[in-house]
Amino acid sequence: MGVMKDMTSDRAAAFAELVREAGELVEQAARARKRTLALSPEVAALLERVVGSAAAAPPVPERAGLEDVADLETLRGEVAGCRKCGLAESRTQTVFGAGNPHADLVFVGEAPGEHEDLQGVPFVGRAGGFLTDVIEKGLKMTREDVFICNVLKCRPPGNRDPQPNEKEACEPYLVRQLAVIKPKVICALGSHAAKMLLKTEGSVGQLRGKWHFYQGIPVRVTYHPSYIVRSEHEPDRHAADKRKVWDDIKEVIRVLNGEITPRPNSGGPAGGRDLSG
Ligand code: URA
Repeated sequence: MGVMKDMTSDRAAAFAELVREAGELVEQAARARKRTLALSPEVAALLERVVGSAAAAPPVPERAGLEDVADLETLRGEVAGCRKCGLAESRTQTVFGAGNPHADLVFVGEAPGEHEDLQGVPFVGRAGGFLTDVIEKGLKMTREDVFICNVLKCRPPGNRDPQPNEKEACEPYLVRQLAVIKPKVICALGSHAAKMLLKTEGSVGQLRGKWHFYQGIPVRVTYHPSYIVRSEHEPDRHAADKRKVWDDIKEVIRVLNGEITPRPNSGGPAGGRDLSG
């Protein structure tokens, strides 16, 4: 089956002819009660073409393997024991991240909230409901298809903003997560993720609508799900903000589908299209 999948149409035609010729030969041999088949030079050449080009076919590139999964689990263990900042005192548990260690798409949020701190899983509160909708209804994927994590792995008390020393202590964990997963696209949810990944001070409004790059990986910045759910009581603004998130996600989908390949410094096919309004 694998060989068939990689066939060019030329090879497929040669293969079909070979099968037909071989069938005839087998029938002839059966009629003559022969145990061996004599190939004509034409059929032998055909066989050489099919088998030779199969051997020359480029190998299918490997995605992250078992070792990478093990690396991620080792890192999860390190994070669980982390005491690099004061959040270790107040957390219930660390929230490492969840999803597919081979994900093409990684969402990076800000920090666990109350629900996440209690369950040890990112984005499970109200904001998480919105992110799950984005993944399921927008991307037509599941949370298990993507990887979801945060800038901070511990909840800041009262959900206050992450402090510079906390971000500095936690950043190497995110760097290592992304190095292991090697996603095709990163979606930065909110300004803390955007600032950590892109080393920029721009606001989400300024950064969204174009491609940025983290270690050569395309990054799309969009509004944090908490920002979206907070505007629920202002229906017009809420609808407008949700539309902007959807615009951002549509660009992510184009990369995942291979329709565009943004490249650093090229302006990119979608580069510079400012949807921030
Ligand atoms: N907000 C975040 O940034 N991350 C979570 O996991 C939950 C809420």
